[in-house]
Amino acid sequence: MNALTALLGTEHPLIQAPMAGVQGAALAIAASNAGALGSLPCAMLSPEVMERELAAIQAGTDRPYNVNFFCHAQPEADDAREAAWRAWLAGYYREAGLDIDNVPAGPGRVPFNRAAADILERFKPKVVSFHFGLPDLDLLDRVKSWGAVVLSSATTVEEARWLEAFGADAIIAQGIEAGGHRGMFALLPQIVSAVTVPVIAAGGIADAAGVTAAMALGASGVQVGTSFLCCAEATTSALHRAALQSEAAHHTALTHLFTGRPARGIVNRVMRELGPMNPAAPAFPLATAAIAPLRAHWEAKGSGDFSPLWSGQNASGCREVPAAELVRALSRGF
Ligand SMILES: Cc1cc2nc3c(=O)[nH]c(=O)nc-3n(C[C@H](O)[C@H](O)[C@H](O)COP(=O)(O)O)c2cc1C
Repeated sequence: MNALTALLGTEHPLIQAPMAGVQGAALAIAASNAGALGSLPCAMLSPEVMERELAAIQAGTDRPYNVNFFCHAQPEADDAREAAWRAWLAGYYREAGLDIDNVPAGPGRVPFNRAAADILERFKPKVVSFHFGLPDLDLLDRVKSWGAVVLSSATTVEEARWLEAFGADAIIAQGIEAGGHRGMFALLPQIVSAVTVPVIAAGGIADAAGVTAAMALGASGVQVGTSFLCCAEATTSALHRAALQSEAAHHTALTHLFTGRPARGIVNRVMRELGPMNPAAPAFPLATAAIAPLRAHWEAKGSGDFSPLWSGQNASGCREVPAAELVRALSRGF
């Protein structure tokens, strides 16, 4: 038992990172049943799907689990920027035989809101985690009303202090290996000394030695994402799995071409040719719409040239194994 397992009610101070778009209830159930904290990412789920996935988790485990949301501000549509972005993409649309004047609305990413809180309240998950800050105080109070433990991620010391002041019960220190602003092993000890709540290390942890190193630097636990991407229970595409287990995974970069916010992915054609960062890309999450048809076109041909091949810097832990096996292997590091 340590401060984090006491807070989360889990066997191990290990969180299977919520990863929108590549997993649902199955991975969360497997991780929770193996003694870690399984997570359900909700950023890209409709209310109906969210409800169905939560019901599946409740049926699949009686252990604690985490439900995760984004807390970004929805941007105003910016026609000039959208036009500039489409000018960058026009040649690719022509190459693929697609019509740039006929771009369907992209998959949305909705920040945590009252509708989500209403659904969540019926399931009363033990842990709720947020990405990109915290929700407004009234929503946060509702989550805390059933005793949920609230986690959020920080990529700088200032963000960590802010999260502690506004009510996070533990802080995830997310280093640049995962997609933050600073290296985890630089960020972690600084956050540990800046806040009093437990700190969870995230970014680049792929084996028991990485777990041990993070704990030695003062972490109360770890959150691991990339290593779960090839687990049997994840919904990661075959194309993405193949890239993660290939030489290509040695070359990752922060890019905002796919969503409008920087995230780390395996370098592919569109990142090489347009970015990986490009000032014309629309604000999060609006950038997704115009690139989605190119992604679909090339994926149908077996190519990931226009796909977000999300990956941390350390994909060495990606194996096609049951999640329980990965939880066991990582837990040897505590
Ligand atoms: C494919 C992918 C999707 C992610 N989606 C989310 C998300 O929806 N919510 C969130 O809080 N973090 C998300 N993250 C960040 C992870 O929660 C975690 O902090 C990170 O993966 C840890 O670094 P690692 O991948 O090097 O282990 C995502 C990461 C990846 C790789």
